[in-house]
Amino acid sequence: MTLVIAMDGPSGSGKSSVSKGVARALGLRYLDTGAMYRAMTWWMLREGVPVDDPSAVAARAGEPGLSCGTDPDSPEISVDGTDVSGPIRGSEVTGAVSAVAAVPEVRERLVALQREIIGAGGIVVEGRDIGTVVAPDAPVKIYLTASPEVRARRRSRELTGATVLATQADMARRDRLDSTRKTDPLTRAADAVEVDTSSLGLSEVISEIVHIANRAG
Ligand code: C5P
Repeated sequence: MTLVIAMDGPSGSGKSSVSKGVARALGLRYLDTGAMYRAMTWWMLREGVPVDDPSAVAARAGEPGLSCGTDPDSPEISVDGTDVSGPIRGSEVTGAVSAVAAVPEVRERLVALQREIIGAGGIVVEGRDIGTVVAPDAPVKIYLTASPEVRARRRSRELTGATVLATQADMARRDRLDSTRKTDPLTRAADAVEVDTSSLGLSEVISEIVHIANRAG
């Protein structure tokens, strides 16, 4: 397998900016698996599927047609031909995504799609279960962390009208759901390198990971 960089970690740890930066620096493709769970959730909400009912979600998980770009400069995602890159970042999707992502049928379908996109490699893949489930043979595995306060501050800067405290509470709720679900929970792979980004600038984190990737060959 040519280079696959698995980038896992909780929300607000800096995964997206770091993953895109590393992909650009090394001329690799980029895949945002969180966007895929968000797109699936957007579709379920639009269809009026009760997202807190796992069997209702499971029954329809095979229906939406997802297509994901892998260019780090414009990673568009569309559902049945509609570009949903904007709407999937809204609070309705953010509030529902962890429940949808906990449904095994959803994960089975999206993990298969992710493996198809990864193909022969040459890609940075960000998510929660990349080093553990999606690409356990990835030659480079990174687990990004940051303190809860730093993560909330970063996220509330990206969202409009959200206070740091409200963002921190929402992130804690999502992390709890993501780490305690039965199927593919968020955990650090035993062979992942942990990088704490609390007191590092974006370019420092990117160079550290580029250095790790270069060493891995
Ligand atoms: O990374 P992002 O915050 O956009 O991910 C949204 C949600 O998608 C996460 O909170 C998690 O519930 C789910 N997710 C997942 N597995 C992944 C990526 C994201 O369960 N590989």
